[in-house]
Amino acid sequence: MPTLTAVKKNKFDVLSVRAKFPALHQQVNGHPLVYFDNAATSQKPEEVIDALSHFYKNDNANIHRGIHTLAERATAEYEKTRKAVQSFIYAGEPEEIIFTSGTTGSINLVVQTYGRKFLKEDDEVIISAMEHHSNIVPWQMICEEKGAKLKVIPVTKRGELILEEYKKLLSSKTKIVSIVYVSNTLGTINPVKEIIDMAHHAGAKVLVDAAQAIIHIPINVQDLDCDFLAFSGHKVYGPSGTGVLYGKRELLEAMPPWQGGGEMIKEVTFEKTTYNELPYKFEAGTPNIADVVTMKYAIDFVEGLDREAVAAHEHHLLQKTMEGLAEIEGIRLIGTAKHKTGVASFISDRIHHFDMGMMLDARGIAIRTGHHCTEPLMNVLGIEGTNRASFAVYNTEEEVDYFLGTVREIVQKKKK
Ligand code: ALA
Repeated sequence: MPTLTAVKKNKFDVLSVRAKFPALHQQVNGHPLVYFDNAATSQKPEEVIDALSHFYKNDNANIHRGIHTLAERATAEYEKTRKAVQSFIYAGEPEEIIFTSGTTGSINLVVQTYGRKFLKEDDEVIISAMEHHSNIVPWQMICEEKGAKLKVIPVTKRGELILEEYKKLLSSKTKIVSIVYVSNTLGTINPVKEIIDMAHHAGAKVLVDAAQAIIHIPINVQDLDCDFLAFSGHKVYGPSGTGVLYGKRELLEAMPPWQGGGEMIKEVTFEKTTYNELPYKFEAGTPNIADVVTMKYAIDFVEGLDREAVAAHEHHLLQKTMEGLAEIEGIRLIGTAKHKTGVASFISDRIHHFDMGMMLDARGIAIRTGHHCTEPLMNVLGIEGTNRASFAVYNTEEEVDYFLGTVREIVQKKKK
């Protein structure tokens, strides 16, 4: 990770990037908005907002069905996004990209197709203690149904996975390892490449939840050699209601369809249905056309950035925030892993996280408070919830200064 001094030398014109995001330029409760809830959802640049409106004004039609001009235009735009996603995550072919409603939809698709077909009694699925509920509950459901077992890789107090314990969990019974790349609560960057290699060595398949990683870390699915990867468009400056499931072709081919309906079929009779080819086999019904089309503009936006400079900028904000919070008496950092990105979580022994969140909001600062859909992790850490500040490309040092000053002021007022 770059040091603070190294990062400072890195020129990054945050203000011109920021200017593209209309939602950031507003007052909230009489203060300029400081949007530090990017791990929940990112704001959208003008080109994304305009693309959505342009589609509905000009190209709106259903896809893969009509032979009229608008239908062909809409289909072409929709498929352009598939190609854009393919090259964004370095998938081998566009057919390996399935559009879903979001990361949750993508994980559920794998659980309900791959999991349902291949998991048997006494098989094992490994997840980690820092998973989001969306990467716990669907596996619990299928394990219960199949009589399979869910195993959990433990975390240290700092919020790092204990790989020696992971190694002990792996065996010939392990069928799937489903692991988060970057923790939404702690910001920990997990060593997914190593985790994948170890799983493959044991003969298991790996799903990577890249919901948080996608905005901060360039992803190459072929280099990672993951079997599945899931992410959401809305966390990477795109529209909500869009998600991606990447899967290796041979696995997607071997999986049965999940939802039945239009588009996912080749031929239907009352006696029998044959299914469509990839990727359509998994895209039943009219999809979220306009938002998927728009997602391409979000990818173009990200690809137009100098990603190394962006990573350095975001890391600088994170480091400054962590250092600043650590200096405030009465604040405890939650999640101090060596490799972190995007997220600073903290608690105070003087003020409940919900009160802190409301007091920050009263000063125009948006953070998330609570268990962040990681209740089991909260239990492991022995806390109820945290305050979470999370960063994106458009956040500034001045915002971090204002945030730290405000937190300090709130905590000091509560001094016992
Ligand atoms: N998973 C999102 C978050 O962490 C919603 O806030």
